[in-house]
Amino acid sequence: MTRVLHRTIAHSYPVAARGQGINIWDATGKQYIDASGGAAVSCLGHSHPDVLAAMHAQLDKLAYAHTSFFTTQVAEELGEDLVRHGPPGTSHVYFVSGGSEAIEAALKMARQYFVEKGEPERCHFIGRRQSYHGNTLGALAVGGNQWRRKQFAPLLIESHHVSPCYAYRDRRADETPRQYGERLAQELEAKVQELGPRTVIAFIAETVGGATAGVIPPVEGYFKRVREVCDRHGILLILDEVMCGMGRTGTLHACEQEGIAPDLMAVAKGLGGGFAPIGAVLVQGKVFEAFQKGSRLFQHGHTYLGHPLACAGALAVQRVIRRDDLLANVRGQGEHLMRRLNERFGNHHHVGDVRGRGLFQAIELVADRASKATFDPRHKLHARIKQEAMARGLMVYPMGGTIDGVHGDHVLLAPPFIATASDIDVIVERLGASVDAAIASLPRA
Ligand SMILES: Cc1ncc(COP(=O)(O)O)c(C=O)c1O
Repeated sequence: MTRVLHRTIAHSYPVAARGQGINIWDATGKQYIDASGGAAVSCLGHSHPDVLAAMHAQLDKLAYAHTSFFTTQVAEELGEDLVRHGPPGTSHVYFVSGGSEAIEAALKMARQYFVEKGEPERCHFIGRRQSYHGNTLGALAVGGNQWRRKQFAPLLIESHHVSPCYAYRDRRADETPRQYGERLAQELEAKVQELGPRTVIAFIAETVGGATAGVIPPVEGYFKRVREVCDRHGILLILDEVMCGMGRTGTLHACEQEGIAPDLMAVAKGLGGGFAPIGAVLVQGKVFEAFQKGSRLFQHGHTYLGHPLACAGALAVQRVIRRDDLLANVRGQGEHLMRRLNERFGNHHHVGDVRGRGLFQAIELVADRASKATFDPRHKLHARIKQEAMARGLMVYPMGGTIDGVHGDHVLLAPPFIATASDIDVIVERLGASVDAAIASLPRA
């Protein structure tokens, strides 16, 4: 009997015993290809020797020093590194221990920014439906996944939501991608007007929608128009690149491909690659200056901010990615993955869409391709696919409720940046067999 309160209480989890490269082995010796990096975390795979060496060296020097007493060289170096490679205008970095914490910090920083500037009437956040920003209460409130929010709704701060950029389902046949993006920007503008432009703090969005909607890339021009709407009303743009950032889409930041820079940006998973818990908020100079000229104190903080061991791991991860030019591999293998997914699923009766960028891709499952009807959510196709994949030694990241928190199923893939073409071939082959077996196991209608 386990004393650990696991994610799903009735489920019996294999014991992960060791990891190497793109593989994890359980305690029985069974091998799994980690084709999702857990939840888009393990960007260098497992047990990377350079990262382990950097962490061991840091551990030998100093494991922990509270940030109200000290800074550390390793936190300063990582901060310098992230600013140097950050979106234009980035001047500082606020370290935390994960994605939800990064979002909480960004929300509070955005609110305090306007208090510092003498605009305390700004109190509203606008997010997008079907987004995911984390499970802490602030992050859950601005997130738009109905299933995750539902039972906690009475506890959540008021927040407002507009449509996601979900071209497969929501772009009309008579619209170009650009017109669709324009329609979404107008919806945001209308929401701002409804709330009162001077009452809105920020618009928050995942640059490429991740876990809950299944890798939905923005249409061309969408974020440029969003940036314009925000700028016109002095509203901050917070991008959540916890999942899609730090190289996953083939550029260090996903927003580079959109030609915009956010005011605040949350990063986490790929920052430390799973070697230690770490997240960060990348802060634009104008936000920092408002604090500097104002109270000179961001009223926030946690015990483990800037943890030296986590900073050492993250710094090593980022240096390896650059030294080994792994973003080129993300782009190259990303194209190969897209090609292989299209070959395997492009004509599949039950795959409606293959989408994504770099090594961040997904397939969306449908009962019927023409109508895009979804499978009955009671049958939990996504969970069956996960089970079939694990049986075949493959870790992927399937989820249900793709469309509205209840209906729809997708499978997310986020292989490590070190994956080779033959790794990708095995991943797609095993995924194909898992999807077919899961569909065959569904009760007949
Ligand atoms: C886009 C996004 N934001 C925030 C989070 C929350 O991160 P964490 O689970 O590290 O708190 C996640 C986690 O999946 C995420 O995908």
